[in-house]
Amino acid sequence: MLLDANAGHHQDDELVPAAEPHAGHAPLDAAAETQADLSAEIKAIGEAYAQALKNGAAPETQPRLDFAPYRSSILRHPTKSLHHADPETIELYSPAFGHQDVHSLESDLTIQHNGEPQGERIIVQGKVLDGDGRPVAGQLVEIWQANAAGRYIHKRDQHPAPLDPNFTGVGRCRTDAEGRYRFVTIKPGAYPWRNHDNAWRAAHIHFSLFGRAFVQRLVTQMYFPNEHLFFQDPIYQSVRDERARQAMMSSFDLSETVPEWALAYRFDIVLTGRDKTPIDEDH
Ligand SMILES: [Fe+2]
Repeated sequence: MLLDANAGHHQDDELVPAAEPHAGHAPLDAAAETQADLSAEIKAIGEAYAQALKNGAAPETQPRLDFAPYRSSILRHPTKSLHHADPETIELYSPAFGHQDVHSLESDLTIQHNGEPQGERIIVQGKVLDGDGRPVAGQLVEIWQANAAGRYIHKRDQHPAPLDPNFTGVGRCRTDAEGRYRFVTIKPGAYPWRNHDNAWRAAHIHFSLFGRAFVQRLVTQMYFPNEHLFFQDPIYQSVRDERARQAMMSSFDLSETVPEWALAYRFDIVLTGRDKTPIDEDH
């Protein structure tokens, strides 16, 4: 079991589309760089990666922690070795959650207020699996996301897109005996962020899985198929292996759609092994 005491906060940082750069984090004026600059940089990294593969390097199936085109990762990626924690000791003072603590209504992000949120209602469902394909039951799954206009309820997200009084953008549930989870939510919008000039994040939903204790937490992002922004999104691009990228991609699932009500996407999460879903290591 590993704990990274030198960790930053991927998900917190990138949910800040129009905020001022973090003090001490921004290398010069990152926003002055163009997409062409960033795309050239990403391309060069891709070519170097392809060459390394040819030379026998192992595929990189997890995000790079110091992926230079993701500007704020340069100065805050972990630089020290991980701290090993005794899982039994840490259980004594870690928070715990019980079976009764998660209400079934918490998996529906469209019923948390008095009215219905704006946007395209969707169902996001799938299975949590271990490395051998076995379902992981009783897993706490949490999600957070922007609203349909690409806006987060966060003091540092002040970009000119509307907040939705009927949408908070957080939900959670526990997997059932077959490892299944299911959320009802709104399809999130893409949003701008100040990684470079005219930088946009591909639409995504953040996922957290807690295992059986906080020290086992995994965080990842789910993307939607057939979007247009993957080529220029440095966070998506920080995963170099194409097969691993596909593991972050949901698929349209007609069998789970509800007529006259909602489309559905499937996103299975693999916790370990060769098919492990790429995770944000430095959360
Ligand atoms: Fe985000």
